[in-house]
Amino acid sequence: MHYGKEGIEMDFKVGVIAGDGIGPEVTAEATKVLDAIGQKYGHTFHYTEILMGGCSIDATGVPLTDEAIAAAKASDAVLMGSIGGNTTTSPWYKLPPNLRPEAGLLKIRKELNLFANLRPAYLYEELKAACPLRDDIIGDGFDMMIMRELTGGLYFGERSTKEVDGVMTACDSLTYNENEIRRIAIRGFDIAMKRRKKVTSVDKANVLDSSRLWRKVVEEVAKDYPEVSYEHMLVDNCAMQLVKNPAQFDVILTENMFGDILSDEASMVTGSIGMLSSASLNETKFGLYEPSGGSAPDIAGMGIANPIATILSAAMMLRYSFDLDKEADAVEAAVKQVLKEGYRTGDIMPQSGESTEGITKVGTAEMGSLIAERV
Ligand code: IPM
Ligand code: MG
Repeated sequence: MHYGKEGIEMDFKVGVIAGDGIGPEVTAEATKVLDAIGQKYGHTFHYTEILMGGCSIDATGVPLTDEAIAAAKASDAVLMGSIGGNTTTSPWYKLPPNLRPEAGLLKIRKELNLFANLRPAYLYEELKAACPLRDDIIGDGFDMMIMRELTGGLYFGERSTKEVDGVMTACDSLTYNENEIRRIAIRGFDIAMKRRKKVTSVDKANVLDSSRLWRKVVEEVAKDYPEVSYEHMLVDNCAMQLVKNPAQFDVILTENMFGDILSDEASMVTGSIGMLSSASLNETKFGLYEPSGGSAPDIAGMGIANPIATILSAAMMLRYSFDLDKEADAVEAAVKQVLKEGYRTGDIMPQSGESTEGITKVGTAEMGSLIAERV
C-alpha cells in the first residue's frame, strides 16, 4: 500500500483470481467499477492476475501453485470470481480430490489464514418478489451477517478412507481449539457492534464436544461486549428459524460446516444469490473477496451472468481491507440505484405473472457499466 500526501492510502495492489465459469466475466465488471471509484476519489488499483481453480489445473496441473500463493500474499487484497466446473462432466472432477479446483480454494484459505468468513444476506426491497417466503414472514425484510469460521473444523481435520475389519470405513474429524473459537467470536461481536448488536451463536452443543467448547468460549468473549445481546441456538433449530423468522437474526456466528450450509440457506431465502457478496479475512487487513454464488458453468461466456455480487464484494474490499468506507458506500448506493431504475440481469428478472413495467433486461457488461457510471 502507498500513502498519499494526507495519509490517505492511494495505491492498492489487488490480486485478481478470475477463475472458471462466469468468474472472468464478473470480475471484469468489478474491476470496471473499482476503476470508476479510483477516478472519482483519486485512488489507483493495480491488478495482478492470479491463477486458481480449473484454469490453473489446465495451465499448471495443480489448482493453486506456490507462485500463485506468493502473488496473493504480495497483494493488499484479492478479488475472486469463482472456481470449479460441472462436477459430473468436467475432466477436473476425474482428478483425485486434492487436485480438483476446490482444493485450491481450501488451500488459499488455509495458507493465508483466512479464518473469518463474512456472508451478508440481505433482502433487496426491489427484489422482494424473488424471495420464496410468504409476505407475512418477510414483513419489513431482513438483513443478517453470517460469520463463518473458515479454517478449522471438518474441512481441515484428519480424514481417511480405509478398510476396517474388511469393511470400507471413512472418517472425517471435527477439531476446534479455544483460540480458533475465540478469534472468530471476537470478530463476530466486533461486527455486531457496528450493526444491530445481536449475536446468535450456532452450534450442536447437545451432541458435540467441539460445540460445547464453542459455547463456553463464546460466553467468555460475550462478557467483553455488554452492549451486544447474544444467544445460543442449535443448528437444526437455526435452519428452521431462517425460514420461519429471518428478521430475528443480526450476526450468526458459527463453525465452518454449519456456516457453509446455513449461508446457502440464507442466500436462497433472499431469492437473489447473484446479489450476495462475501469476505474472508485474516488477522491483518488482508482479505479475499468473492461472490457467494458459484461458477455457473452452464451460462459461462454468454454475457448474461449477474456481476452484482462480485461488484458488492469489491465494495466489501474497499471497506474492510482499504478502510475506504465512503467509496464502499458509493458502490452500494450505485447498485441500489440501478435496481431502482429497473435494470435487471436475467436471474433477477420478474417471475412469470409479475409486472415487467419499467424493467429493462441487461447483460453482464452493461450491468457493470451502469453501476460504474453511477458511482
Ligand atoms: C463455499 C463453497 C466451498 C465450501 C466449496 C467450494 C469447497 O461451498 O465457499 O461455501 O464448502 O466452503
Ligand atoms: Mg458453500
